[in-house]
Amino acid sequence: MNEFAFHTPTEIVFGKGAEAKTSALIQKYGGSRVLIVYGGGSAVRSGLLGQIENQLKQDRIEYRLHGGVKPNPIASHIREGIKAALDFQADFILAVGGGSAIDEAKAIAHGAKTPQTDFLAFWTGEAELTASLPVGTVLTIAAAGSETSASAVITNDETEQKRGLGSPHNRPCFAVMNPEWTFTLPKAQIACGIVDIMMHTLERYFTPVDGNRMTDEIAEGLLRVTIDSGRVALNNPSDYDAMSELMWCGSLSHSGLTGLGRPIDFSVHQMGHELGARFDVSHGASLSALWGSWAELCRPEDIKRFARYAQSVWGISCLDVGEAARAGIEQTVEYFKELRMPTCFTELGIGVLPEEDILKLAESCTFHGKRKIGQLMPLDAEGIAKVYRMANR
Ligand code: NZQ
Ligand code: ZN
Repeated sequence: MNEFAFHTPTEIVFGKGAEAKTSALIQKYGGSRVLIVYGGGSAVRSGLLGQIENQLKQDRIEYRLHGGVKPNPIASHIREGIKAALDFQADFILAVGGGSAIDEAKAIAHGAKTPQTDFLAFWTGEAELTASLPVGTVLTIAAAGSETSASAVITNDETEQKRGLGSPHNRPCFAVMNPEWTFTLPKAQIACGIVDIMMHTLERYFTPVDGNRMTDEIAEGLLRVTIDSGRVALNNPSDYDAMSELMWCGSLSHSGLTGLGRPIDFSVHQMGHELGARFDVSHGASLSALWGSWAELCRPEDIKRFARYAQSVWGISCLDVGEAARAGIEQTVEYFKELRMPTCFTELGIGVLPEEDILKLAESCTFHGKRKIGQLMPLDAEGIAKVYRMANR
């Protein structure tokens, strides 16, 4: 087990009726002028936003609305949000929605706290993020885990670059999670969420550290529960228990818990972000389209680990380690298909890409030669291109 630090300060309020605590939580964390950030309208249609507005009115908390966040939030809309926050002198940012609304809220909080710095500089590494306005979240989808994570992912719509920023200042102060608000989700979006939840643990699980039993058992348990609950939730999106499990798994999976004591890999995420920026595909879909290819390439690096995964998560017991390793990958890809998630580029809807595009995507993913990605098998541009080529069918 490697050394680690684990600090997840987000207060989680979970279960039926949890949203009724939103105004009290905002006040607890010092909010008196609130900018509410939400997406394309699902939170309006479900009545959740109206309920929160009523609470704030009753408690005489001033607020303004900043709606229209796109899935894969973009810098130009974030800029409008920062301006709105500054004009209104917001002291608290509330996100109502999923990873996109939450990440945009985080970016607005950073930009409004330090208006003299262009907020994108925090993502490019040109400026260090040292402070932010407090952010609270009311979650409506089990997926990205941004409600507890130290990360925020945004797209620069001018340069078509999608980048994540890891920082303790990205941790929201609270997360309100009532699974009932997820019942309106389209099945395709539930499936994207299931993949993302699995991937946040898989990207921590397949890394080169031996002897980390507690973390491994947590990771494997989370994967099993996500797989089972995912099947039930897709069959019946109003199944409270299944959605509860997914919502809780989503938050735990990206809180850091399932990878303590080992480095993180996240190469599939990095490669997926290139596809997200270029083709605006759903985040979860970009991951399922790539994971099988990545796993096939990396399997020889640690066959035993892939075999353990097959046995512990999928119950595959073969005497031959190599066979088990292969079967675990196949089973995962089959599960993605069962969820009707893409497992290659044509299924992702981007067609078969010309070699020139593959090379451009791979080059951009290395930040133009500045980095390799991943830990299990660090990938340079050629390695990344290999994965893209394997998925390019
Ligand atoms: O925009 P609205 O109308 O709200 O509709 C959304 C959106 O179209 C809809 N939706 C959400 N809750 C709903 C609902 N529709 C009906 N009923 C509900 N209850 O779902 C669509 C997707 O929403 P989005 O917020 O984009 O989903 P998700 O939570 O998957 O977030 C994806 C974003 O998070 C980033 C991704 O890259 C992507 O930009 N990620 C953020 C991470 C983080 N900050 O830690 C980590 C992840 O790896 C990920 O990269
Ligand atoms: Zn993700």
